[in-house]
Amino acid sequence: MSCTMLRWLLRGGCRPLVGLWALLLPVVSSHGLQQDALTEGRPKLLLVSFDGFRWDYVDRVPMPNFFSIMNDGVMVKQVENIYITKTFPNHYTLVTGLYAETHGIVANEMFDPVLNRSFSIETETMYDPQWWEEAVPLWVSIQKAGGRSGAAMWPGSDVKIRGVFPNQFLRYNASVPFETRVERIIQWFSAPKEEAVDFGVLYWEDPDKSGHLLGPQSLLMDAVIAGIDEKLGFLMNELKKAGIYEKVNLIVTSDHGMVQLSPDHIIELDEYVSRDLYTWVDKSPVVGILPKEGKLDEVYSKLVDANPNMMVYKKESIPAHFHYQHNSRIMPILLEAKEGWTIMQNRSGTFLLGNHGNDNTLPSMHPVFIARGPAFRQNYVKSFMRSVDLYPLMCHILSIPALPNNGSLSNVKDLLLREPTPTVPSARLRVKDNSYAPLVGSLMGVAMVLGFLVVFIKQVTLKQLPSLKHRRREMSQPLLQDLHL
Ligand SMILES: *[C@@H]1O[C@H](CO)[C@@H](O)[C@H](O)[C@H]1NC(C)=O
Ligand SMILES: *[C@@H]1O[C@H](CO)[C@@H](O)[C@H](O)[C@H]1NC(C)=O
Ligand SMILES: *[C@@H]1O[C@H](CO)[C@@H](O)[C@H](O)[C@H]1NC(C)=O
Ligand SMILES: *[C@@H]1O[C@H](CO)[C@@H](O)[C@H](O)[C@H]1NC(C)=O
Ligand SMILES: [Zn+2]
Repeated sequence: MSCTMLRWLLRGGCRPLVGLWALLLPVVSSHGLQQDALTEGRPKLLLVSFDGFRWDYVDRVPMPNFFSIMNDGVMVKQVENIYITKTFPNHYTLVTGLYAETHGIVANEMFDPVLNRSFSIETETMYDPQWWEEAVPLWVSIQKAGGRSGAAMWPGSDVKIRGVFPNQFLRYNASVPFETRVERIIQWFSAPKEEAVDFGVLYWEDPDKSGHLLGPQSLLMDAVIAGIDEKLGFLMNELKKAGIYEKVNLIVTSDHGMVQLSPDHIIELDEYVSRDLYTWVDKSPVVGILPKEGKLDEVYSKLVDANPNMMVYKKESIPAHFHYQHNSRIMPILLEAKEGWTIMQNRSGTFLLGNHGNDNTLPSMHPVFIARGPAFRQNYVKSFMRSVDLYPLMCHILSIPALPNNGSLSNVKDLLLREPTPTVPSARLRVKDNSYAPLVGSLMGVAMVLGFLVVFIKQVTLKQLPSLKHRRREMSQPLLQDLHL
């Protein structure tokens, strides 16, 4: 536009001021600019979880698509996830930035003594909003801020939380293929601009499912991991085909890692304490024990030194760094198997060759993390982050205010192409970030026109130059302030 204007100015140089104002008008009208930025230049973010993708799987077999994203973006080697390192607690952390004790999804299976209700990810109980409403997931915040979100089977995204579902979502169904989930996500991102989603979440069950059955050390896992790279390649291709690959910020991560188990490393609880004395909650390797009325001390004393491969905590003495204590859904006694061990009541239960849930400082429990897109640096490797830091990072990328959380943007700001400016309120950031390119274009145009104007007026009215210079400065200053440059 500015080039056309300049040509017009040079041609019809007798009316320079008319041309100048025609150029300035769209810039001066900051309302129009904001509208435009909100619909067209809105930042986009797609968060993908491959369940149980341990951080070091990328070095196990050739992973061309993972490596392409790392080269083109960022990678974090060690991501410390949250305790307990189970699927639902960690997926809810990724979208809230909260420890499990605060977001309330403290396990895959829970008992809430206040509600007198049980929760299991394998039953309809997980659709009861009460379990989820101790926190507000990112898709809810985005929608309350006027944005749109879409969710393909992310844990909790098909639950009505705080009265809302994602604008677009699929109810959980493990039989729906990855490719179908991707196709839906792509449709939602590339819908007409009023309907297009700004934030998408995509979930896939593997390599967790295979890791449990085969054990991570199995050679058969190589093919499973290579298959995940192909799935990522499919997603990248579909984004490219839809013409949105360069526009969408893509984060690929996971909830936890996986450790090899052995049938020789089983702890049988029945050997130490009668089942009549307690209720068993959730599954190995971290099990909640709810003693029957008045039986807390008896159960605890029978278990505390029972087996050197099992940690036994009373709720109030769970190590503080786990941030796993202050919630009524955490049971009075917590058992944690040492890495590689399985806790069962007796051997007739289901035994898995791989599992997760243990201490979140163990590298075997850590997930992969790679990301690329307009918000991210390129070819950058960071050594460590905490998964609670992802939420404030995503809020920053999406230009919405983060709710109180346990993460910190400053811990992960080095992943970003542009340093965040913490003193600028987020409401302004939204306008500024979104309208960066058109703004710079317009202002360059203005500067060039002003330059020409000076030359022109110099030639026509040399004597009046000083007063005009002064006026020009007055004119440009309020403009710049309006635009928050
Ligand atoms: C808790 O719920 C169970 C049924 O699920 C019921 O038998 C029991 O009485 C309830 N306890 C209390 C304290 O309400
Ligand atoms: C789950 O998805 C499969 C495959 O698309 C479909 O055949 C099946 O009907 C779905 N189940 C439910 C309960 O929707
Ligand atoms: C394990 O416990 C179940 C339920 O009490 C019982 O039926 C079964 O016989 C036990 N199995 C072994 C191997 O002890
Ligand atoms: C985590 O963040 C929440 C919300 O700000 C806060 O209430 C809680 O105390 C924090 N937890 C820790 C361990 O700092
Ligand atoms: Zn998982």
